[in-house]
Amino acid sequence: AYVVTENCIKCKYTDCVDVCPVDCFREGPNFLVIDPDECIDCTLCVAECPVEAIYAEDDVPETQLDFIALNAELSKEWQPIIEKKEPLPEADDWASINEKRDHLQR
Ligand code: SF4
Ligand code: F3S
Repeated sequence: AYVVTENCIKCKYTDCVDVCPVDCFREGPNFLVIDPDECIDCTLCVAECPVEAIYAEDDVPETQLDFIALNAELSKEWQPIIEKKEPLPEADDWASINEKRDHLQR
């Protein structure tokens, strides 16, 4: 499966959502995750994310490995998002900030 990592937090651009053929993105207050049981590894979402937050599970950077379990966990709690919407208001300010996992809201 593909995995959403830290760069998405407080940005949530949602370009990824529009291209997913199986609607497997789930939405939290300031982050999206992918349901690993639904993702068909089509790769389409990777190029859409302006902050390069999405990786194949096998390519997730070492500092982001905990996000594999986090996507699996939160995808069972959060609801599907199937259409692109406005990014979070301060998305552009947070886009260049790499360490922001403490800001993740559940
Ligand atoms: Fe959806 Fe394809 Fe991305 Fe998986 S890889 S989340 S199926 S767009
Ligand atoms: Fe997040 Fe990138 Fe999608 S910022 S909402 S993973 S387009």
